Amino acid sequence: MDRYAVIGNPIGHSKSPQIHRLFAEQTGQQISYEAVLAPLDGFASTLQHFLADGRGVNVTVPFKEQAWTLVDQHSAAAAKAGAVNTISLQEDGSLLGDNTDGKGLVRDIQVNAGLSLRGLRVLLVGAGGAARGVIQPILAAGPAQLCVVNRTVEKAEQLASLFAEDGPISAAGFQWIEEPVDLIINATSASLGGAVPDMSPKLIRPGHTWCYDMMYAKEPTVFNRWAAEHGAARCVDGLGMLVEQAAEAFLLWRGVRPDTAPVLQTLRG
Ligand code: ATR
Repeated sequence: MDRYAVIGNPIGHSKSPQIHRLFAEQTGQQISYEAVLAPLDGFASTLQHFLADGRGVNVTVPFKEQAWTLVDQHSAAAAKAGAVNTISLQEDGSLLGDNTDGKGLVRDIQVNAGLSLRGLRVLLVGAGGAARGVIQPILAAGPAQLCVVNRTVEKAEQLASLFAEDGPISAAGFQWIEEPVDLIINATSASLGGAVPDMSPKLIRPGHTWCYDMMYAKEPTVFNRWAAEHGAARCVDGLGMLVEQAAEAFLLWRGVRPDTAPVLQTLRG
């Protein structure tokens, strides 16, 4: 049986083993998938140890950037994302690094939630690794404008110049903008500390603006509660993104893309 794993720290909360188990059942693929805790200073050796007889791994917080430096080749998506969330052991023993987060996000928004990004004015809040990983796929979906807003504006500006050739991207600080947009995506880690980025609620046009939090929790996230209080037309959390990025990884490893809808339904249930 081919072995796969997700490596992170912490990892106990990870839903990835359950998701991949459901994918394997559905597609009839004979695989095992486990959660592996790596010490904060021991990602490289944990990866090497697992891949001695494993076929591939998913990488999660806080090791995605380090994974990028350890693989032998990068997919186009991973190259610019600066982070790797999926590693495949190649026939020749080399490691291919991919990043399926952005594809997963865009698919969750466009297919699961049914909102086409084409022609939309989109705000991406945050300029860390999570934001960087999703910019190229968002731009590829053809928004009218993607504005990266961040508490530390210099980091948003750096991302806007890094991706300038990929589409209409700009940068701003939290207090610079008040015009309503069509979609706000929260890619900050603020929710982890129970905080909401300090942005104007005027960015939300009641009944029109959609809000998407890349985080998820059993209860609505603080960002989505803030959005709902200010009249957002729809608030979506990141559970669908998690399942979709996993499906993309499964496709890379096994050559078959699982149907994500029943898996998402099971997780939500
Ligand atoms: P990740 O890999 O999850 O993106 P990161 O690289 O540490 O983590 O980036 C965290 C992001 O969340 C940054 O954009 C950070 O803003 P700064 O660059 O100004 O630090 C943002 N962030 C974290 N806590 C926040 C808060 N309370 N309000 C607003 N932004 C916050």
